[in-house]
Amino acid sequence: MNDHAANPARPRVYLETYGCQMNVADSQTVSAVLRRAGYVTANGVEDADVVLLNTCAIREHAEEKVLHRLRELARLKNSRPEVKIGLLGCMAQHNRVAIMEKAAFLDVVAGPDSYRRLPEMIGSAGFDASIDVRLDRAETYADITPEYGGGVRAYVTAMRGCDKFCAFCVVPYVRGRERSIPPSDLMREIGELAARGVKEVVLLGQTVNAYRFGDVDFGALLRMIASIDGIDRIRFTSPHPSDMSESIIEAMATEPKVQPQLHLPLQSGSDRILAAMERGYTVAEYLDLVARVRAAIPGIALSTDIIVGFHGENESDFEATTALMRSVGYDSAFMFKYSVREHTRAFRLGDSVSEEEKGRRLTALIALQEEMSLARNHEMIGREFPVLVEGPARRGGGMMSGKTPQFKTAIFAASGIPAGNTVRVRVDSATGHSLMCSIS
Ligand code: 5AD
Ligand code: SF4
Repeated sequence: MNDHAANPARPRVYLETYGCQMNVADSQTVSAVLRRAGYVTANGVEDADVVLLNTCAIREHAEEKVLHRLRELARLKNSRPEVKIGLLGCMAQHNRVAIMEKAAFLDVVAGPDSYRRLPEMIGSAGFDASIDVRLDRAETYADITPEYGGGVRAYVTAMRGCDKFCAFCVVPYVRGRERSIPPSDLMREIGELAARGVKEVVLLGQTVNAYRFGDVDFGALLRMIASIDGIDRIRFTSPHPSDMSESIIEAMATEPKVQPQLHLPLQSGSDRILAAMERGYTVAEYLDLVARVRAAIPGIALSTDIIVGFHGENESDFEATTALMRSVGYDSAFMFKYSVREHTRAFRLGDSVSEEEKGRRLTALIALQEEMSLARNHEMIGREFPVLVEGPARRGGGMMSGKTPQFKTAIFAASGIPAGNTVRVRVDSATGHSLMCSIS
């Protein structure tokens, strides 16, 4: 949104985003909706007329962060009662009653399918809060162009919602049913991004590879997007293992713009726990998928999500997870302690693993993954990769950074190479998190 200094009379909004890439993308849609309605961006809560938090409900910890922030905002509301404060997104949808009890000062509570109405809701919030947490099976925001940030990479929502109902997960309840954005809208939008200098798109969805619009499945969509001039690289997140069709694997194998990188959430390496989680695949099926993907796309980087301490997980289930992680050899992994979520199917099962034990398992798993990330990155030493340049490296000192096709961070000595250029580098050394390279 515009800087406030240029438009002193317009209402100023400050939007904070918590949670996943989908929320970041949703916030860009919210910004577009508010900008159309005349809002400009505030520099912080201090100079804002409206403060909005776009929230995450995936784990209790995510909710606690927001509740902490709300306690701070209560003080702001006390000193400046005219400031309107709104809670958006998954937490608003998940538990609005509990939240209204904890933060009675909220003016606006809007779920993920209510963003179109935000200007009206903010305007009408008075003595009573304006609340809209209806889910809408048809809402895709396809006609609203989000306010993308700058940079060579853009995250583009391809589908919304989730129909999988994994036993532990609140997403299907807070984001509603699967809906795919029409290919024509995606093509137009990504075409516009390419014209603005974006080189890489990351297609987003809770189960992005379940994408389907008419005859167009996700494999076909990847090919369509690959036909857009100016877009050099295509990635996507997060796919579900059960929706990883041959059509998608083939598109990845044959379309050079689709990058050799795949996030394949495993959750557990124990069949018993996978069944209790209602994930819809067995360990053997998952390993077969990994083998097919690796055979079709040599050099592909794999990452995953793991939950430790799901209800009923015993020591041997946990050992099965560590064994599976060792045998796959992921390039990276996101690992979480199980967090019981209200409304989910697992809610009534309970929480049999103590907090201490979850902590112990998580620490052990993180140590194992660090070891393996380092080993995987060491295998890259001496090899050459094309790197999409993003800009000066965070560590400064005449270094620049960008990503390899496998989405590993490459750091190399250079200056003045424009972002968006692709350079060839050779890997000299590696840590678990980045590759130190020289231009070759
Ligand atoms: N507790 C812990 N982790 C969870 N995830 C989803 N729901 C929960 C939960 N209740 C994790 C899964 C998912 C990732 C986005 O978050 O690993 O893939
Ligand atoms: Fe949650 Fe499962 Fe859907 Fe992923 S696939 S968003 S874990 S319900």
